[in-house]
Amino acid sequence: KILANTLFLGKDVYYLPDCHSTNQLAMEMLKDKKVAEGSVVITDHQTKGKGQRGNTWESQEGKNLTFSIILMPRFLEAMDQFQLNMVVSISILEALDGISTGLKVKWPNDIIHEVDGKIAGILIENIISQNKIESAIIGIGLNVNQRYFRIDTATSLSNLSGFDFDKHVLFEKLIQKLEFYYLELKKGNKKIIKEQYLNKLYRYQKLADFEDQVQFKGKILGIKDDGRLIIEKETGLQNYYAFKEVKFL
Ligand code: BTN
Repeated sequence: KILANTLFLGKDVYYLPDCHSTNQLAMEMLKDKKVAEGSVVITDHQTKGKGQRGNTWESQEGKNLTFSIILMPRFLEAMDQFQLNMVVSISILEALDGISTGLKVKWPNDIIHEVDGKIAGILIENIISQNKIESAIIGIGLNVNQRYFRIDTATSLSNLSGFDFDKHVLFEKLIQKLEFYYLELKKGNKKIIKEQYLNKLYRYQKLADFEDQVQFKGKILGIKDDGRLIIEKETGLQNYYAFKEVKFL
């Protein structure tokens, strides 16, 4: 039983030892209607975990956190989607505070260690109605105690620190942070969210290699309200990039 110290997030937790995907399950629950905002679906093992861009999300059974949260952010317009991405990214990073240095968010929302690779992925699926975000499924995969990965761009908290972690303690911290920042967003406090996001943004204001049509050197200057990345090229030219329009080299 999870006893999170929250107002609404994580009050209803649906645990399954196995499932295809917690995002998929949360979506089905939403369609059946009777689900409360803040409900969480959590599992030890996904057979068809979904990642961004149609990828699969692989996670060793029992070792990591894989869950989805149902939110109903009707106060957000469809074009404000990225606000939610920022809320989730900064909440994860704050929940992990003190575990390891070098934890960052790589735009738009990969949680990484700047040298060792990715430790968490976020997949947000929205249901839009009348231009408002009727509901949002916030899928989070956080690599906690898994030691070995098939891809060398992935790592975990235990690899970074040398310790194993109590998943429940992490989970509780995470939903507390999430509730806090989600309520800030609801209050319209967008500034603090953007500030925290930029604070933790990988390669923020650092000259680095990117690729759009060509390879170039540039600096991330910030984020547009719609989530586009602002990069200043070495030539002084500023560009706005939507998701997939720019690669980090
Ligand atoms: C990414 O590609 O970085 C996003 C990965 C998101 C994975 C999580 S695990 C829990 C939830 N259920 C899913 O099927 N996917 C998300």
